[in-house]
Amino acid sequence: MKRVAILISGRGSNMAALISAVRDGKIDATLVGVISNRADAAGLAIAAREGVATQVVEHRAYSDRATFEVELGRAIDALEPDLIVLAGFMRVLSAAFVERYAGRLMNIHPSLLPAYPGLHTHRKALEDGVRIHGCTVHFVTATVDHGPIVAQGAVAVRDDDNEASLAARVLDVEHAILSHAVRWFCADRLVIGGGAVRVKQGRADVPALIVPLAE
Ligand code: GRF
Repeated sequence: MKRVAILISGRGSNMAALISAVRDGKIDATLVGVISNRADAAGLAIAAREGVATQVVEHRAYSDRATFEVELGRAIDALEPDLIVLAGFMRVLSAAFVERYAGRLMNIHPSLLPAYPGLHTHRKALEDGVRIHGCTVHFVTATVDHGPIVAQGAVAVRDDDNEASLAARVLDVEHAILSHAVRWFCADRLVIGGGAVRVKQGRADVPALIVPLAE
């Protein structure tokens, strides 16, 4: 069974969705631990309540990124994970760090990449007047919010949407696609090639998420 570690920085709702999916038998995996770079991350209490081991590697405790990454790498390696999921982990990781975990480091990002990498994705989507917005699960490469795409989910943007309402609808889809992506990984169904990801046996088990009906 695959060993999955989750990295968070805050609320931890994506992490909670993964914990539930594993607990409910939807993902065949062992959650080996949750690591936060902030001691005040609300997700830590959720993980602890669910019986998942937690630890904090506080980035502010280290003078530079390299030293922080040494400690973070140590914490990750001690868990011996097959997959490391960045679930709302808000630190940029160096190319060397990312390379070390190539093919087993996954991120959830709240936009339809390659549109809107970085922060404030919902605000930018509203400012641009896009009609379709969403989220992406991808393998992490040295370029921030870039890398082979595993799953995407879309929502229709409503005329009366604001940042909060749009973020809330996208978040629901994040929880769903992240669970599917991790499930596929844990079932050895993901093949990375030429910058893209193929899902063995197809993506047909996730039909409605990819293109929900427009309203
Ligand atoms: C999510 O929107 C995630 O895509 C982004 O930060 C948010 C984290 O939410 N990177 P949560 O901590 O999973 O609730």
